[in-house]
Amino acid sequence: MSSIFVRHGERVLRLEGRGGEPVLDVLRRAGLPVQAVCGGRGTCGKCRVLLEGPAGPQEALACRLPTADGMRLALPLASNASVCCGVSSGALSPFPLSPRGGAGAAVDLGTTTVAAELFDLSTGQSLGRAGAWNAQAAFGADVLTRIAYVMEHDGGLALLQDVLRRQVLSLVEELCRRHLPPGQRAGELFLSGNTVMQHIACGLSPVSIAKAPFSPPTLFWQEAPLEWEGLAVRLSPCVAGYVGGDITAGLLSCGRLLGGRSLFVDVGTNGEMALRCGDGFLCCAVATGPAFEGGGISCGMAGLPGAVRRMSWDGAGPVLEVIGGGQPRGLCGSGLLDALALLLELGAVDQSGRLLPPDEAPRGLAPWLERDQNGNGIFFFTPDRSLFLTAGDLRALQLAKGAVAAGIEVLLRRAGLSADELDGLYLAGGLGSSLNPQSALRIGMFPPQLAGKITALGNTALAGAGEALLSERARAALFDIARRCTYVELSGDADFSRAFPEHLLFD
Ligand code: FES
Repeated sequence: MSSIFVRHGERVLRLEGRGGEPVLDVLRRAGLPVQAVCGGRGTCGKCRVLLEGPAGPQEALACRLPTADGMRLALPLASNASVCCGVSSGALSPFPLSPRGGAGAAVDLGTTTVAAELFDLSTGQSLGRAGAWNAQAAFGADVLTRIAYVMEHDGGLALLQDVLRRQVLSLVEELCRRHLPPGQRAGELFLSGNTVMQHIACGLSPVSIAKAPFSPPTLFWQEAPLEWEGLAVRLSPCVAGYVGGDITAGLLSCGRLLGGRSLFVDVGTNGEMALRCGDGFLCCAVATGPAFEGGGISCGMAGLPGAVRRMSWDGAGPVLEVIGGGQPRGLCGSGLLDALALLLELGAVDQSGRLLPPDEAPRGLAPWLERDQNGNGIFFFTPDRSLFLTAGDLRALQLAKGAVAAGIEVLLRRAGLSADELDGLYLAGGLGSSLNPQSALRIGMFPPQLAGKITALGNTALAGAGEALLSERARAALFDIARRCTYVELSGDADFSRAFPEHLLFD
């Protein structure tokens, strides 16, 4: 056993490591927020910690750093940052309150973030919200990497469940401490998350969701609550392995907006979508990878202070809008979409998605470009060349946008609709609330006919969970939505296989 000391914000924690195991494993057990996008394989470079030594702090990869007795290290500042948890819609809910005493919390179990909202169950009033980076990020950025962890480690599922449960309970406890009289705690929780997250929360193996036919052990259609340390816990019903309770809760929360022909899209590490058609919804999911959340991109980062969230060009060079102001440290999802749209507009990317080297790009861009070893370009957005996109980064974004666009095309085709017949597109999730619709249209992620019809809704999964917590009628409507969803499996679908490569191209 070795003791290591980890600075996390204001606190210094003493943690125990076993026989030189990687520091990442110790941080995981402690539920500390470290970004391990590749799941600890040493390939993403995102799990950096600051190792204190005689020569001052040095960066090191937590997954490659063996623990040593007395080691002192700090987590990067970004991992302490608070997380925006979206809007409350409790007050706007069309469903009547089912009043009872005490307090309860709605929780969005996002792959990247976990958000909670505390309510007074007698009045339906929202008392406060809190959010944090999902502590499971230390096990991988997306659900597939976390499933791989479960498959490859004895006790992996129990550890992931423990990390998630502890995080949810501590977020809710913190809310109670801040907003309730001393000693009072919440009695009920309503959770919504994707199918994998809900399985992990309940200690159910999500392994079958990773391979065809992608069937989950349960869709959580039973309404009876579970019990977590004295709390009654309900979960949102899922539709399929990759259309989960976050989507049904999202559809509940924006039910009054989704008119006759509208599309609901939640883009994160997966792209999940539902097309309102007649009395029900056609749903599908596409794999987008972590690119839209900054994962697996050279200068990608989450939407934290220092991230470029918007980008434009003033004729002389890029104009960057940085969260919190100051020096840019990376590009978050919305900044990445703007950057790609800008490169297309400038002619630095050709129709196939190739980032051009200086001698092939339009004249005038040469100072911003460099040729890489494969003959493609690297585009620099800052004079000090610290912020850039590579051809590989572009490819990841291209695959993600192509998958979303192809998914939309297949749903429209199944419904017998064309894009110009749609009344609107409603965007959920973190990226949805920050992205510039013009950029999403420019890169071809959404059909051009939707220009002017795109609305960002924020955290609809949390809003829907809040409604289901407060009202029995809302809960009944939520389960009714799940029953009215028809899942379209895209893996092996001939239409999707044809549409996907077409949507990789740029106009
Ligand atoms: S490099 Fe350490 S988790 Fe990816």
